[in-house]
Amino acid sequence: MRIVIANDHGAVALKHELAAFLRSAGHEVTNLGVDEETRVDYPDKAREACLEYLSGGYDFGVVLCGTGIGISIAANKIDGIRCALVHDAFTARLAREHNDANFLALGGRVNYAEKPSDILTAFMAAKYEGGRHAERLAKIAALE
Ligand code: RB5
Repeated sequence: MRIVIANDHGAVALKHELAAFLRSAGHEVTNLGVDEETRVDYPDKAREACLEYLSGGYDFGVVLCGTGIGISIAANKIDGIRCALVHDAFTARLAREHNDANFLALGGRVNYAEKPSDILTAFMAAKYEGGRHAERLAKIAALE
């Protein structure tokens, strides 16, 4: 898969961990985040990652900040982006199956009960179910 990833200074270690995990599994990763703890504003990183995703050729994106909250809020302001701030593998799977999320958000300062790479794996393995969910997604798109 081809994945774009971006982060602010609150999720540098998590970005490195997830990017390394993805690359070791043979995926192609475009890294638009900061690689050291240089202060950046998460809305800028969200914008860069989402515009790159929308330029085409990507399977999904990952955005990371300290909590995942700010960067997911920012990503969801961009038309066509459905960014899911998930808590665990269960919500990651449902984000795909029900919400057809095209971005996953996680927090670098959050202590997850499951490994972030397992949460990401659940997101990647799940498929959008369509059906009754399609009408709801159309209603989300109508809000844009
Ligand atoms: C940056 O200090 C922090 O506010 C950011 O990473 C994120 O947690 C915001 O939601």
